[in-house]
Amino acid sequence: MKPRILLVGIGGYGENYLQEVLDCPSNDYSVEGICDPYAARSARYEDILSRGIKIYENYDTALDSECTLVVIASPIHTHFEYMKKALLKGKDILCEKPPCIEEAELYELIELQRKSGTLVAIGYQMCYRPDIQALKKDIQQGIYGKPVLLKAIRLMRRGESYYTRNSWAGRKIVHGTKVYDSPFSNACAHDFQNMLFVLGNGWNSTTTVKSVEGITLKGNPTIENYDAVALCAKDVNGTPLYYYTAHCIKESKIGPFFEYHFSRAVIKDGGTGITSYDLSGNLIKDYSAFGQGDKLQKFHEAIFLSGKDRRPSCELETCKEHLRVIAAVQDLPSLLNIGARWEDAGDVFYPIEGLAKLFSDCYAEASLPSLNKIEETI
Ligand SMILES: NC(=O)c1ccc[n+]([C@@H]2O[C@H](COP(=O)([O-])OP(=O)(O)OC[C@H]3O[C@@H](n4cnc5c(N)ncnc54)[C@H](O)[C@@H]3O)[C@@H](O)[C@H]2O)c1
Repeated sequence: MKPRILLVGIGGYGENYLQEVLDCPSNDYSVEGICDPYAARSARYEDILSRGIKIYENYDTALDSECTLVVIASPIHTHFEYMKKALLKGKDILCEKPPCIEEAELYELIELQRKSGTLVAIGYQMCYRPDIQALKKDIQQGIYGKPVLLKAIRLMRRGESYYTRNSWAGRKIVHGTKVYDSPFSNACAHDFQNMLFVLGNGWNSTTTVKSVEGITLKGNPTIENYDAVALCAKDVNGTPLYYYTAHCIKESKIGPFFEYHFSRAVIKDGGTGITSYDLSGNLIKDYSAFGQGDKLQKFHEAIFLSGKDRRPSCELETCKEHLRVIAAVQDLPSLLNIGARWEDAGDVFYPIEGLAKLFSDCYAEASLPSLNKIEETI
């Protein structure tokens, strides 16, 4: 049976799913409806109406429809309840990351998924990429030896227009529910999740994190949560995973870059694709040949797997360690409200001068910035 899709949240990132169903019609599925209390704000609203697609303001009513696959791209604090309700009705799910914030909620969802036997795929899109999956296979087969140190950096400037696009951006708690919205949990979540993913023993599992250290900073005084973090998470085997991410920078973008060091090789993505080198610097493998897949590979996979007894490339379990680290980062030492107001390109930012350089230098040497170093540099 072809999946009958309910799109939940069609603005923001959800617009990608909306565009896909409107502009790339396929015989592989049908669209049962859209659920978004603010659907009328969509630039495609008239288009949706003219095609006769049903719009629901209320999620419970939308779930009572004949939909079989619920694609959730609504705010983070809606994910847990929305998934729980969908699972109790035996629907398949593709939900944007993170699936929830509380670990206990994740276990509840895992239990419900086990009982219902339905599909629950989560939108950490790097897990779905053919080049990443090929790399993970090679790592698992041991061709690169043992992991020594992994590091990644992704700095992405975000200002007032980003933080005022909704009522939950940069918040810790919304309507009593944890959101912990930050570059680490939201816009730049993928690059850290990928380090966990490639070290996992199973084809869609991750390694387990044992400890987290680092520092969070807040440049933007108008938000509640931090907007920069440098961290080092050590996994069960003692492998350090360094990650640097920030929204409060002057530069529009740095990265995403990564270097994964193994005992017999270094695997790099400096922005032009993933390649591996032996310790003398000779090319071993160019993973570009595998391609990155479609931007919405997760959507196509969910459609393909819906109704079948198969597991997705990223399931609830695959997200557990990222959730645990999101919670741990909330408790790291913090430097607050240290950015200065700055206008550029019609937007307002609170960049921390020197932060992009500091994080780039720390990335180069795989170190964490000390409080002294931060005070000296910025
Ligand atoms: N995979 C990625 O690369 C990526 C990138 C950005 C965001 N996201 C994820 O997408 C999700 C949404 O983030 P966003 O930045 O698009 O948020 P957003 O606030 O910009 O958009 C959310 C959409 O949901 C709608 N909405 C609000 N309340 C709703 C409700 N109660 N029920 C249904 N719909 C509701 C809004 O009208 C809006 O259309 C988050 O989980 C976020 O992490 C993923």
